[in-house]
Amino acid sequence: MGIDVASVRADTPGCGKVLHLNNAGCSLPPTPVLERVKAHLDLEAAMGGYEAEDRVVEEHQGVYGSIARMVGCAASEIALVENATRAWDAAFYALAEGFQPGDKILTASNEYVSNYLAMLQVVRQRGIEIIVVPNGPGGEISLTALEAAIRQHGERVKLIALTHIPTNGGLVQPAAAVGRIARRNRIPYLLDACQSAGQMQLQVEELGCDMLAATGRKYLRGPRGTGFLYVRQSMIERLEPTPIDMTSAEWSAREEYKLRNDARRFEISGGSVACQLGLGAAVEYALAVGLDNIAARVTMLAEQLRQALANIHGVTVRDLPGSGGQPRCGIVTFTHEHHAAGAIFERMRDQGINVRVTPLGSTRIDMEQRGLTAMARASVHYYNTEEEIARFVNALAAM
Ligand SMILES: Cc1ncc(COP(=O)(O)O)c(C=O)c1O
Repeated sequence: MGIDVASVRADTPGCGKVLHLNNAGCSLPPTPVLERVKAHLDLEAAMGGYEAEDRVVEEHQGVYGSIARMVGCAASEIALVENATRAWDAAFYALAEGFQPGDKILTASNEYVSNYLAMLQVVRQRGIEIIVVPNGPGGEISLTALEAAIRQHGERVKLIALTHIPTNGGLVQPAAAVGRIARRNRIPYLLDACQSAGQMQLQVEELGCDMLAATGRKYLRGPRGTGFLYVRQSMIERLEPTPIDMTSAEWSAREEYKLRNDARRFEISGGSVACQLGLGAAVEYALAVGLDNIAARVTMLAEQLRQALANIHGVTVRDLPGSGGQPRCGIVTFTHEHHAAGAIFERMRDQGINVRVTPLGSTRIDMEQRGLTAMARASVHYYNTEEEIARFVNALAAM
């Protein structure tokens, strides 16, 4: 069963106002998400924030259950946080507490800027080393090189950190194959699923990750200011997050505290209940549309876009293909011989078309390896149409 495109578009107020090809930045939310957030804000205004929260305790608990269903884990292995960076950092800095000088982190050339910055900070603070595993022929992480690095560094390898889908293109990393290697070697595995959550199936058992970070506002179509962290139960007990507060821990005696024994030890207080309820609505919406349906349509539209772009004189599509047979995803990046990415962004914006620039600094290693300084990024979602793609391609061709 496919997607009823007319119906999902009718459910998306933004579709009538803009041609949105910045879904890798932030998607247009569907009406049930918007309505859920607004209704809770109204309730808070009418009766007080804490009192409103008391009214939705069960539904709020259900948000953890919805996410757990989507990624195939227990609700107790999910923490709700503000965004993917907070989720990733919460896991990473807790792990880093145990790092010793000379320890190694293995990562790939497309690691996201904020993750890499955190790693660099820990290099400075703890004398560890980041090893960027070389790519395979399609630009994906080389599994052979990963295994060789593990053989070379043995017990010093304390983490594999991988970005499932880079912010700068359609490549889908072989995350499950990396997970099998991580498990076989008993190395903690942190997956940045910021761009894949909501775009395709994510099952943590199949991916073999111990921790997974995601955001609400991108392919999940949830509100800004939401994200989640999955942490495998066996890992939760080994990690002490920083900071802690009254959500993550209990002040059990005057000089003592006890951390929660579920993933909520990675949360701190004060999150937006309205937005978290909106995230729950977004996850339920994605599950109802069907993640396989979403992946199939997004892949199809993105391929159509790549083919049309390749026919425009001066345009080069830059997405790395990977080499494991995994199709490229909904993020499409390209350069133009005669127009800078910033000029394309501006020209499209003036015509009501949202695309984005992906700069060197978002994925520095990959961009430097390929000699790129910036690319234009058009990222499709399932609510986009073939007509919209044609309109964008015509606008670009007319530049
Ligand atoms: C791969 C990747 N990881 C992490 C992030 C950061 O997400 P957030 O802004 O939700 O922290 C992004 C945002 O573009 C991303 O593309």
